[in-house]
Amino acid sequence: MFLSKVLFSLCILLHLWTTATGVDNRKFPSNFKFGVATAAYQIEGAWDEDGKGENIWDHLTHTTPDLVYDGSNGDIACDSYHKFDTDLGLLKDLGVDYYRLSLSWSRILPTGHIDGQINEAGIAYYEDILTKLQENGIEALVTLYHWDLPQSLQEDFGGWLNETIVDVYANYARLAFDLFGDKVQHWITFNEPHIFCLDGYETAGKAPAITDAPGIDLYTCAHMVLKSHARAYHIYDNEYRETQKGKISIVLNTNWFEPGSDDEKDSEAAERHLQFFFGWFANPIVHGNYPQVMIDRIGERSEKEGFNKSRLPEFTSQEIEDIKGTYDFIGLNHYSTSLTQWIEDNEIGEPSSLNDISVKVYDDDSWESSSSDWIKVVPWGLRKLTNWIKDNYNNPEIIITENGFSDTGEIDDPRRLNYYREYLSSLLEAIYDDGVNVTGYTAWSLIDNFEWLQGYSAKLGLHSVNFSDPERPRTPKSSAKYYKTVLATRCLVDECIE
Ligand code: NOJ
Repeated sequence: MFLSKVLFSLCILLHLWTTATGVDNRKFPSNFKFGVATAAYQIEGAWDEDGKGENIWDHLTHTTPDLVYDGSNGDIACDSYHKFDTDLGLLKDLGVDYYRLSLSWSRILPTGHIDGQINEAGIAYYEDILTKLQENGIEALVTLYHWDLPQSLQEDFGGWLNETIVDVYANYARLAFDLFGDKVQHWITFNEPHIFCLDGYETAGKAPAITDAPGIDLYTCAHMVLKSHARAYHIYDNEYRETQKGKISIVLNTNWFEPGSDDEKDSEAAERHLQFFFGWFANPIVHGNYPQVMIDRIGERSEKEGFNKSRLPEFTSQEIEDIKGTYDFIGLNHYSTSLTQWIEDNEIGEPSSLNDISVKVYDDDSWESSSSDWIKVVPWGLRKLTNWIKDNYNNPEIIITENGFSDTGEIDDPRRLNYYREYLSSLLEAIYDDGVNVTGYTAWSLIDNFEWLQGYSAKLGLHSVNFSDPERPRTPKSSAKYYKTVLATRCLVDECIE
């Protein structure tokens, strides 16, 4: 008894000492799952091979290459279309529990429509991947939509701005469940709708880069996405869950927004920003409608701007019912933290979502930077954010579906290694000290890849890819070796307490 008390105290002391040095020395729970993530357009290449249809990223990068920092595109990317066996080798070597990938909609349905031709070669490609993952005991987390809308749906009816998309997407989702559902443990309906609605329809930072109606189109896009998400969720729930026994949800992204001072107004600004960023989607899915702060602010500003109704569309009560509860877990993409400062509301003028929020967002100069201006290394933000989600959304199961660091591609990458160690350490604190229900983590990314408008100038992979070699050879970075050890030991330091 005495001995066990002494041992226990020693463990606590050892733990406190290690946390004092910065990195938590407790082991991840034995059922915690680790993996890595990728997305179709960013790695596959083979943009027009074997019957694949054009998508909005093919179109954007081919018609306006100047928009991409280095004028590049995903035509070949990492050539993963021809190299899945190589990538599988990397996954096995890392020892992952799961692999998060996305399906290219236009590789399966070249026109996007179910009544268009179904592309057998595309189906065979994903069938092969999912079979091999299964044979190797690697669970699949499959994203149905990671930003690559079939171009014909954009041209035919305006993509995410038209209600027609809800049925068209639902048909695609049903086909995917039907074809692949027996090999998929986690379905993700959408990746980061915040980003593709805001950037696709307001800032021109993502395809289709349409900027016709700021302050309006992004909200319409989100509205259609939420309805489509709910449709797919219910299709899975009613028709497939019983036999396929998987889970389904959505992946949302946000920084942690930390008040810039002790002033209560800066806290209000931080909360408002979180609501406009994360609550925009999480609130309807968990609680049934948009956050009240969005309804109020956008409604008031729209009226002052002379609109006869709010620029934020309204859900019917039936839609609220349909959307509420459509998640089996929350997929969270998190990379960084920002500070917020309360400011007077921006003047009434041209509508824009930034004016709707009216919060000053800035960084602390002392935070370590990366090759992407939006990624600063602030590990404690992950702990605060997961706690905020726990408190605001009924303590849901959370899977961290993306987290990672951007540099210029060095094989020896101590800064990425450190980023992972510190963010994972912060996660351990959230799990053990705060009781946040985080069950898994997929690092972004398995390999360096096409980083959207940053092209190949920002690298986020655990493995480097030589893009000047037609064979696209992959080389593990120091961070991959570290991650592999973490996966094998469930521990972030040389020795963990048991
Ligand atoms: C979010 C996106 O889901 C992914 O496609 C992107 O490459 C990473 N973040 C890094 O920017």
